[in-house]
Amino acid sequence: MIFPEKISDILIPSEKLSERISELGVEISKDFKDKDLTVVGILKGSALFTADLVRAIELPLVLDFMAVSSYGKGSPTGVVKILKDLDTEIEGREVLIVEDIVDTGLTLNYLIKILRARNPSGISLCVLLDRTVRRIIDLRIAYRGFEIPDVYVVGYGLDHQQLYRNLPFIATMKE
Ligand code: IMP
Ligand code: MG
Repeated sequence: MIFPEKISDILIPSEKLSERISELGVEISKDFKDKDLTVVGILKGSALFTADLVRAIELPLVLDFMAVSSYGKGSPTGVVKILKDLDTEIEGREVLIVEDIVDTGLTLNYLIKILRARNPSGISLCVLLDRTVRRIIDLRIAYRGFEIPDVYVVGYGLDHQQLYRNLPFIATMKE
């Protein structure tokens, strides 16, 4: 892997990511035993995390994806547009939303509202990165990978202008 010029430091190396994801997998496998689990990855940011997480969950599960876009940052409502909806029904099922990073919490809050209207038996959140300092909405995050400081991060699915998603680690960028 050639280290990109605009990348400053590695914040979370890939070994740390896989270690933590294994732990989350064990917890989730325990908590959703004998439940009808649907894992919903939010594209594109959580594609890599979701792919690794489901392989750490030792349960039968349905894997589905959604893609959303926010109507511009700073929208105080957090209303998002659905670019790609789920392919499967979630009524009566336990939904685990998998997201790359939660910042203000607006995106996830709105997404939960949309999915709740479809009458799943439950909705839980699994977030790889939690930047709590900028939180506006008080969300209950059942599964959290790492808490990170107030810095912009890329890699392992997260982008800057659509680049750097393929880096195998979480990194900070140069100014
Ligand atoms: P929220 O609605 O403010 O919680 O925004 C969360 C969304 O913003 C995430 O799903 C990401 O797509 C994006 N985002 C927030 N912080 C970062 C970052 O540091 N790097 C890349 N994307 C980010
Ligand atoms: Mg995202």
